[in-house]
Amino acid sequence: TKYVVIVLAAGMGKRMKAGENKQFILLEDKPLIVHTLEVFDKDDWCEGILLVTREAERKRMDQLLNQYEWKKSIHLVIGGKERQDSVYQGLKNLTNKEAIIFIHDGARPFVRHADLHRLAEQASLSQAALLAVPVTDTIKQKNNELLTTLDRTTLWAAQTPQAFTFERIWQAHVAAKQAGVYGTDDASLVERIGHPVEIVEGSYQNIKITTPEDLKQANYISRTDRI
Ligand code: CTP
Ligand code: MG
Repeated sequence: TKYVVIVLAAGMGKRMKAGENKQFILLEDKPLIVHTLEVFDKDDWCEGILLVTREAERKRMDQLLNQYEWKKSIHLVIGGKERQDSVYQGLKNLTNKEAIIFIHDGARPFVRHADLHRLAEQASLSQAALLAVPVTDTIKQKNNELLTTLDRTTLWAAQTPQAFTFERIWQAHVAAKQAGVYGTDDASLVERIGHPVEIVEGSYQNIKITTPEDLKQANYISRTDRI
């Protein structure tokens, strides 16, 4: 199953407190975003890469990409204010609408090829799927003053990539835009228009690098068991 990937790098990385977009932070020898792009550049199932970047960083990104050898061409697209706006811009600029569409956080450099392949296969069966892992913490819900405990066996932590047929994800994004709804991930936009989304169990290694603490863990993963 072939896919094309939209890699999102148009955020600000505010929670990282690095004074610049976290995508440019070095993990070992290379910027974070280069690690993420390399995963897809090296995956034979990946037919195309679209990188969503901030207007203000377009030049810097372009120059950075030129410093490395790529098997595939990486198309740059300018993102939007919120993550969802950036995805929308990515979808709008896709040329290959026949393949499965992966939407992936630039801040997740450790996703494995085997998981990408299982995800692509599931998405071609069900039109919508995401990588997720079982929640290991006990999750408490506090509604006003009432504390309850959620049934952990039903809870999954969503990751990316999230994978869709073009038709399904485009329909979901257009509907969300019309309704002025912002979801925290892309699968939730498909859920809200009543279409099923399947979970593909991924790996705890596929962390999103969000805070300085994550960066420590990322350096560790990078040195030890990357892919
Ligand atoms: N992203 C994007 N466009 C936006 C916001 C986010 O492309 N307008 C991307 C980020 O670059 C990141 C991914 O979406 O790769 C996941 O978002 P997050 O981890 O929240 O990154 P940031 O928004 O950059 O970080 P923060 O929320 O801490 O500012
Ligand atoms: Mg953010």
